Amino acid sequence: MFSHLPEPTLDPILSLSVAYRNDPRSGKVDLGIGVYKNSLGETPIMQAIDLAQHKVLASQKTKSYVGLAGCEEFNQSMISLVLGDSPVLDRVSAIQTPGASGALRMLGDLMRVAQPNTTVWLSNPSYVNHKPVMEAAGLKVKFYSYFCPVTKQVDKARMLEELTHAGKDDVVLLHGCCHNPTGADIDFDTWQQLTRMAQEKGFTPFVDVAYQGFGDGIDEDAAGLRYMAEHVEEMMITTSCSKNFGLYRERTGAAIVLGKSAADATKARGKLLTMARATYTMPPDHGAALVKTILLDAELKKIWQQELIVMQKRLVSLRQALCDEFRKTHNTSEFDFIQSHKGMFTVLGFSQQQMSLLRDEYGIYGVGDGRINIAGLTEGDIAYVADAILKVS
Ligand code: LMR
Repeated sequence: MFSHLPEPTLDPILSLSVAYRNDPRSGKVDLGIGVYKNSLGETPIMQAIDLAQHKVLASQKTKSYVGLAGCEEFNQSMISLVLGDSPVLDRVSAIQTPGASGALRMLGDLMRVAQPNTTVWLSNPSYVNHKPVMEAAGLKVKFYSYFCPVTKQVDKARMLEELTHAGKDDVVLLHGCCHNPTGADIDFDTWQQLTRMAQEKGFTPFVDVAYQGFGDGIDEDAAGLRYMAEHVEEMMITTSCSKNFGLYRERTGAAIVLGKSAADATKARGKLLTMARATYTMPPDHGAALVKTILLDAELKKIWQQELIVMQKRLVSLRQALCDEFRKTHNTSEFDFIQSHKGMFTVLGFSQQQMSLLRDEYGIYGVGDGRINIAGLTEGDIAYVADAILKVS
């Protein structure tokens, strides 16, 4: 049964983490997987999470099942976090999922059932798991141009031109903020133009927002998708608590559906629940229990928001420090674009070979597509990393 299986293809991000762990060099720098680190190079449990954990452990009296949709208070809290007090909330539904990848798969499966000939348009490049998940759900995938390798910014004109070919059976996947892998975000004006295109062409927007709070702030990072949600008939959203709550291993996310009517949103949720039952039955509880405890407690929420601001500001200052290093020590403004990018990631514009060189010669681990995780840097790494990048460029 298994002997004819081909050799497995390795995930370009997760396999990098293994290679990094096995690298015996002492000065190695992990700029691969999207994990936030503090100035000590650690990823500590956030204080709000720690406090919520004590609260949950003290009050939880059972480990009995929660339900197919996970924790309903969590689902409502995530809808509020992502959509704010949007006037369309009455036609929105959500389920808790195992991380945002679980949400992507659930919505992929929903699309295949609801509209089997759906083509999903992904940005080129996009999060490495978008294509595998959509294809595993049986959907066709196309790419739209997104990033200009020369300016290292969004190629807005080309993106909008190519998306004029998206039709009514198509779904256009957008990154809510902090684009993965490029770090280059679309501006509010582009969100408005894409919204108009969705209305005219009939395609369905699908927004993956996995880094809310890491760009400009919780509400600022959701402004584009909130505008879109208010002006389109249908939309899908995936969201993650891995990064902004630091709950990576707890696999905590949500799939959110905006329907034409409340009845449609309820129907979509019903189908999602049937599919969840046939896939994993229920999502793991612990992460969602912590998030809902924080979001429903004013004091804990404030602590969490402040911690998130610290992380967001740290990313900005690391970007600034890296650019300063290039400018002051190496007299080049070639890498100034790093400062204009948002969130954890930046694409350097390096080839796979150059990224291998960075890893093999300097012990600096970035993804093969040229992505580096700014949040993986410590202040002490800046000079070394800037020097290595220049030598390889
Ligand atoms: C990343 O892009 O590094 C993270 O989202 C981790 C993952 O699941 O790939």
